[in-house]
Order: sequence, then C-alpha cells, then structure tokens
Amino acid sequence: MNLQINKKQNIRREINIPGDKSISHRSIILSSLARGKAKIKGFLESEDCLKTIQAFQDMGVEIERIDRGEYIVNGVGIRGLKKPHNVIDCGNSGTLMRLLTGLLSAQTFYTVLSGDDSLRLRPMDRIIQPLSKMGAKIWARCNKYAPLSIKGSSLKGLEYKLPVASAQVKSAILLAGLQTDQQVKIIEPALSRDHTERLLAGLGVDIKKKGHVTYLPKEGNREFDAQNIEVPRDISSAAFFIVAGLITQNSEIILKDIGINPTRSGFIEVVNKMGGDLEIKNRREISGEPIADLVVRSSELKGTEISGDIIPKLIDEIPAISIMASQAEGETIIKDALELRVKETDRIEAMVSQLSSLNVDIEGLDDGMIIQGPNSIKGGIEVNSFGDHRVAMSLAIIGLLADAEITIKNSQIIRTSFPEFEQILSGL
Ligand code: S3P
Repeated sequence: MNLQINKKQNIRREINIPGDKSISHRSIILSSLARGKAKIKGFLESEDCLKTIQAFQDMGVEIERIDRGEYIVNGVGIRGLKKPHNVIDCGNSGTLMRLLTGLLSAQTFYTVLSGDDSLRLRPMDRIIQPLSKMGAKIWARCNKYAPLSIKGSSLKGLEYKLPVASAQVKSAILLAGLQTDQQVKIIEPALSRDHTERLLAGLGVDIKKKGHVTYLPKEGNREFDAQNIEVPRDISSAAFFIVAGLITQNSEIILKDIGINPTRSGFIEVVNKMGGDLEIKNRREISGEPIADLVVRSSELKGTEISGDIIPKLIDEIPAISIMASQAEGETIIKDALELRVKETDRIEAMVSQLSSLNVDIEGLDDGMIIQGPNSIKGGIEVNSFGDHRVAMSLAIIGLLADAEITIKNSQIIRTSFPEFEQILSGL
C-alpha cells in the first residue's frame, strides 16, 4: 500500500491519539497472569497489540472485546497458562517477543515464538543471555534470532547489569523473576521506560526501585489479583502530530489524555529546548501513570544537541525529531543512539537516505545523525518506509511541507502502532 501526502498548513483542531502501545501489551500480559477479571480501557487496537491478545488466547486465557479499546481479561494466575498448540506469532512486535520469552522461560511447557521478516532479524541474544543465567532453556537461530524455542524450566535469581538501557530486556527479566522465589536485581546504565514496574506495583507485587536499580526482593509477594487498567494515550504516536503542529504555518493542535511518564517524555524536553510552543495542561494520573492535555502551536525552532541519558526517554521519537530538526534553524546533533540501528529497521540509515532524497541536509553518524536546517522540502517523489511504522509516519509528516505530492511506499506497516493515522491525516 502507498500513502500520498500533500502540502498542508492551518491545522487547527483536536486530534484523538490512540492508546499507548507499551502499556497496552503489558495490560494484557499482566491481567492474564492475575487472578480474576480485569477490565482494560483505552487499549490500542493495533496489529502489534492484537497479537498479544491472540498469544494469550492461544495459551487458554479468555479475553473478550466489549467495545472499541475495551476488553475483559479473565486472568488465570501465574501458573494457569496452557500450552499453545502452535507457534506463537509475534508479528512485528519486539516487545511481545521479548516479554513473552521472559514469561515462558519459567512456565512448565514448551513454546516456539516467531514473527515477521523484520522481527526475525532483530537481536534476541540480549534477552537470551540474562535469562540463561537464570537457568532458562532457549534455542535461537544462530543463537540470536527468532524463531525461538523455549523449554519452560525452574529458574533461579539474578543480579544483572544491562549493557544497554532497554525496557524490553528489563521487563523480560522481571516476568521471569516473578516466577522464582529468589532476589532478582537489574541495574540499568540509564533509565528506560518503567511501565512494567508501575503496573506490577499497582497490582500489589513487591517491586522496588532505587535510581537505576530495580529489584524483586527475595521474600516479596509475586502473585496478584486482577485490577482494572486504563491505558493512557501514546506519547510516541502523539509526537507525529506535535511535530506537524510545530512545523506547519498557523497551526494549533490539541491532544488530550497523553501519557507523560518521565521515562517517556524526553521528546517534550527536546521540543522545549528547540523553542517549540507546547503547553502542558490538566496534569493528572490514571492507573499509576501521569497524563496531561497538550496544546501545540506553529513555532520557530532552533537546532540542539540530543545525547546521553535522555536517549532512552525518546528513543522511539527520534525519527519524528529528525523531521523537527529539518525545519529548525542551525545544527541538530543526535548521538548515543546506536539502538536505532536495531529497531524495526535501521532507523539511522532509513531517515538519512529518505530525508536526503527530500532535500534535507542530513548526515549519518554511527550512533546518530547531524541535521542542518531549515530546509525546503522537494516533493514529486516516492520515499520508502522500509517496513517501519515510525519511519513511514515521520515521512508523512514532512510531506505536509513538500512543494509537490510525495508517495510513501509500504505504508500499511503503520497499522502496527497507529491504525487511525492515515484517516486523521487525510481529515486535516
Ligand atoms: C519498548 C521498549 C523500547 C521501545 C519499544 C517499546 C517497550 O525498546 O523502543 O518501541 O514497550 O518496552 P527497547 O527496550 O529495545 O529499548
């Protein structure tokens, strides 16, 4: 599928952003492991998150859709999952595959996990290593890639220093750790998103956090009763329309109920640093997560440097930030973001090649990029998403400035995280 984008300005409206992807996955996983019924509201009905529902249904959990984004999960308890009768398909979702591997490592049955062409090329050794230290039995293609075969085993405790900040690895270890009776301690080089910890604490699990250290203490409670969960709207999806509001003329966009968890809101800090007009109103909390309403207006942006500990707090927003930087006065340098090379595609390579073809002055670094701005955007060409939803959406947003129509190839991948994106964009 291709997506055609034309020049737009004067975007003055409220946009409904769908539910947070990371929290939607976790809401199903943890409600399935809880004892009893939970209602989930605001669930993101995207391809990735629907794969999570399917995976738990395949393992015998009853999950019923009652309305748009509303589900009832009949939790079976940590020991209540059933052996699936086929390979579990994780689709495009690294989060699902990595979190499931942690969980299934300590179950009593054998499972095989696979996914699409992109997911089968993403590194899984980062979870296999720590989980193996706990006693997990996992086989992978070339010891690194899916399909993964997991023989559930009885696991022991772990103290592990993560080589790279990663919420997926941390959460995989925590889900395995819930099924041991020993201490599990994880030390991160920088803070990654903490949704798993917040949800577990809300469910009554004894989980502690001190700076960069997260642990399940030896004697703590690791079983829990179900609780209703309300999912905030996804700041990573909102980021595309925040950038649209900032870079188009005479625009004002309102985005309500957006998650602003401090481990996810590095993007907001960068918008402020670049001189963007972004107002945060009505701060409140749902299901242990801070949310707020955001109002963004057209702005004169300036270049900046983005590096160090802020990177994990905005890792998914870097493609959108590169669009913002293309319109900012001066130089923007993004460093310390080597992780971009192992996302759904190599996002450094993808953004550098595609933005260059649109006339943006951009240069790739091993671990980031340098962008000089502002740039006028050349249209009348086709660009490629490389099968990456965030690359596709970023290119669509820069297309709002192009001097002629641009076409984004393979745009169907957007459905993995933001199925309503195209409809919202065409309605602007
Ligand atoms: C996610 C963690 C991040 C992020 C991904 C979602 C999660 O990945 O990029 O989109 O839900 O835990 P890493 O853990 O690899 O940094």
